[in-house]
Amino acid sequence: MSLVMNSETSGLDLVGKLLDPASRADPYPLYAGFRALGPVWIDEISALVVTGYHDCETLLRDPRLSAERRRHFDAAREADPYPPDAPSSVRQPWFLSMDPPDHTRLRRLVSRAFTARTIARLEPYAARLVDDLLDQACERDTFDVVSGLAYSLPVTVICHLLGVPAADERLFHGWSAQLTRQLDGFSGPGDDGKQWAGGMVELHRYVNELVADRRRSPRRDDLISELLAAEDGGDVLGHDELVSTIVLLLVAGHETTVNLIANGVLALLRHPGHLAALRADPGRAPAVVEEILRYDPPVQLTARVAREDLHVGNAKAPAGGLLILLLAAAHRDPEANRDPDRFDPGREQVRHLGFSAGAHFCLGAPLARLEGRVALAAFARRVREPRLVADPPPYREHINLRGVSELLVGHGAR
Ligand code: HEM
Repeated sequence: MSLVMNSETSGLDLVGKLLDPASRADPYPLYAGFRALGPVWIDEISALVVTGYHDCETLLRDPRLSAERRRHFDAAREADPYPPDAPSSVRQPWFLSMDPPDHTRLRRLVSRAFTARTIARLEPYAARLVDDLLDQACERDTFDVVSGLAYSLPVTVICHLLGVPAADERLFHGWSAQLTRQLDGFSGPGDDGKQWAGGMVELHRYVNELVADRRRSPRRDDLISELLAAEDGGDVLGHDELVSTIVLLLVAGHETTVNLIANGVLALLRHPGHLAALRADPGRAPAVVEEILRYDPPVQLTARVAREDLHVGNAKAPAGGLLILLLAAAHRDPEANRDPDRFDPGREQVRHLGFSAGAHFCLGAPLARLEGRVALAAFARRVREPRLVADPPPYREHINLRGVSELLVGHGAR
């Protein structure tokens, strides 16, 4: 895409170009355009767009901002898209969009069960799964990294962690894809709003039953049982809070991790020297993952609402106004990272907000990092002479959850 920018290019022009599907393959010149403008209030979308690294990081920790942003995104949707017989948990908000003290309480309870130790124990399972997926994928001369590797791994791992029976995993694959739109925030449910709400209701019904089953016969080895047992000073998760949290874990951890893996494979294939270095030394995988999270992050932006009038640089957001923090643009702020447009897993220091910062820092970051490094290291080790079949590959329509819909790779003999 050619982007002609001059001193007349306004924030609104840039928003228009960003919404254009033609910019999906490479939105980074547009982000550079936003950075050149500095923090900018755009009246037409009632939002302040922020792209500086320091500004984004500071604002994510600023108590004058609220994470309760559903009102802004739900305005375009039906007020209550759910049927009257939907389980009540479907209306329970996710703690992702709550503020203290509610957020603090729920996050603390969930963290009791979703621990670093629980996650670390998953590594051998994830590694076996990746090997099996690559065994199947490599049987074909050309395979799709998205459907053949990236898509299955996170949903299978989270189902295993939650204790979902293997026979039901397929159901989760379908729901997760339908629900990503809700998380994207910027695509909205669109024409298939009804389908999206229907998927949400089905998923909630399923998880309600799963929880009821675990209540009747608790197990010791799955996350649902641990969430049921989680306690903080006598406080426990209510039924709807528990169901809503399980749905959040599933939805927040799926498409994001799919995109981490697919964006990672794409960057490595475009930079064969770094792919060869990873093949020679799998110990480089954590650095590769951090660089992907910076260079082509699965979550491009997040949003907050100003509780009071706020000044950022020369721009002002009125109380109730939206702040769009363009994390992917902040990662390429030269004040944060040297030579920021270069993909370089070897950089001495990588600064990114790919998992956000502050109170809402991604709870699933250890799991995402584990899956990312296992998948990318195995891809480098197992797939000989890989080559991209189409460059650029086709992208999903999402603006926030950036990723390809298909990534065809041809390869030589194993
Ligand atoms: C929150 C990114 C994977 C669970 C977040 C946020 C970001 C993020 C940016 C904060 C949004 C904000 O501040 O508004 C990512 C990326 C992932 C990933 C890039 C993969 C590469 C996962 C996984 C899980 C997960 C695997 C769990 C299975 C959550 C939860 C929150 C969250 C529960 C809410 C935290 C809170 O509000 O306190 N994630 N995530 N994420 N993520 Fe992730």
